[in-house]
Amino acid sequence: MRYRSQTVAYWYFAAAMVLFGLQLVFGLLSAAKYLGPDPLLYILPFDVTKTIHTNLLIVWVLCGFMGATYWIVPDESRTELYSVKLAYIQLILWLIMGVTAIIGYLFRYGTGNKLLEQPLPHKIVIVICMLIFLYNIGMTIWKSRRFTTTEGVLVLGLLSSAVLYLPALLHYSNYTVAVFYRWWTIHLWVEGVWEMIQGSFLAYLLIRLSGADREVLEKWLYVIVGLVFIAGILGTAHHYYWVGVPGYWLPIGGFFSALEPVALVGMAIYAYSAMRRSGLRHPNALALHWTIGSAVFTLFGAGLLGLAHTFPSVNKWTHGTLITAMHGHAAFYGAYAMIVMAVIVYAMPSLTRGRNERGSSVGYWAFWLQIAGMFGMTLSFATAGIGQVYLERIMGLGFLETQIKIQVHFLMLVACASLFAVGVGLFLYDFFRYPLNQVMTDPARDDEEALYPAPIKAT
Ligand code: HEM
Ligand code: HEM
Ligand SMILES: [Fe+2]
Repeated sequence: MRYRSQTVAYWYFAAAMVLFGLQLVFGLLSAAKYLGPDPLLYILPFDVTKTIHTNLLIVWVLCGFMGATYWIVPDESRTELYSVKLAYIQLILWLIMGVTAIIGYLFRYGTGNKLLEQPLPHKIVIVICMLIFLYNIGMTIWKSRRFTTTEGVLVLGLLSSAVLYLPALLHYSNYTVAVFYRWWTIHLWVEGVWEMIQGSFLAYLLIRLSGADREVLEKWLYVIVGLVFIAGILGTAHHYYWVGVPGYWLPIGGFFSALEPVALVGMAIYAYSAMRRSGLRHPNALALHWTIGSAVFTLFGAGLLGLAHTFPSVNKWTHGTLITAMHGHAAFYGAYAMIVMAVIVYAMPSLTRGRNERGSSVGYWAFWLQIAGMFGMTLSFATAGIGQVYLERIMGLGFLETQIKIQVHFLMLVACASLFAVGVGLFLYDFFRYPLNQVMTDPARDDEEALYPAPIKAT
């Protein structure tokens, strides 16, 4: 850690990890309901547990993005954060918002708009948090007068995420219109501007972990971001097939969303070749596992499994089934959960005291159990989804009759999810077992030093 203010990131990461653990509790609860009987039917029904599960996901991933940004920006701009106090106020507001939203969902207080269920007061707090965050980051960069491409892509991604949340603040009485604009936030987040955030985290980590040339990596970052936009914006139409908008969206959605995996292939090649060029020279090979893992798992979960159901001719059968859950899990985990954990694992040796920079066997177990568990969960959702589509949509069986017939896949889901949860448990244990480091460490331990001829003094 070069700058004292980077300790802010620790508290964001800690909060994100606790919420991640809580997210899994509600995931397991939701999965258990598929197996029935459900003793909690009238206290915590499926719609409530699922809403809490997905909202916790969004709250912790965004909290992780903010922490990672508070870690990265001082490093890139080589300065202390503009205001540590503002960063803590923002975190407290964010957590109050997240926790009260979850409590609200228990009492059915929410808008009911999938993934954007937050009630209006909570949405306003989200906007306030984003404004504080962007101001703090903006002022830090402004003050330092040093602005790297990696940072530029990151800030643009964060700024656009905030702007794209604005349609979610409005109320639409027409359901088609509501669904139409919902995707401006959800789709353009996960298949647009969040990929810029992921791409910039990848660039930051690869530059430091592989020692690869910053200029080359940042040039490729531009190409990837360009590809994301070419396909991602009009690719939104793959959510417009059956929502009551004109039919011309079908070919547009099919064509452009099918191009989206190109950027993800680019990202995986980019990460892999950076690693090949330098091998595993950096002591923190565990962080490199998470970094390359994120790029590769995104290609699998978002690229391959997204493509699998993105054409209208396929989507007319699979829309809104467990095939969607299959893809949603693998894509979200690979792209956003893994990249947050990559930054955490990279930052931890200097952010905490007494940790071996090479990582521990607990850290590797956490990585591989999560990968294996999530892969198994994806396959369980896939097999359940294929069965569901065939029985319900092709054979015409009723929803509940179908669910009984595909129940066996949920046994596999719970088994794999338990493996995954053990992996997350080990990650949390590894995270919390070392105390926060208040002392500045030797900055020369970082590979990026090679890029900067003048030694950087810790302040
Ligand atoms: C990191 C990137 C991605 C993430 C995190 C992600 C996540 C998700 C999630 C959570 C959903 C369910 C949304 C809902 O119903 O509210 C979804 C739906 C969908 N995704 Fe993705 N996705 C990603 C990339 C892609 C890509 C690249 C493609 C296509 C090549 C794709 C194709 C689809 C399709 C077609 C649906 C709609 C499924 C349906 O009709 O039920 N996704 N995605
Ligand atoms: C213990 C692990 C987990 C279990 C047992 C679990 C289980 C579930 C279940 C049963 C659903 C409802 C599916 C449906 O609508 O029928 C769900 C939804 C969802 N989960 Fe998980 N989950 C787990 C972890 C995760 C993780 C780690 C992520 C992301 C990083 C995630 C992302 C999602 C998303 C995006 C949805 C909504 C999908 C959709 O609407 O189709 N889950 N989960
Ligand atoms: Fe999409």
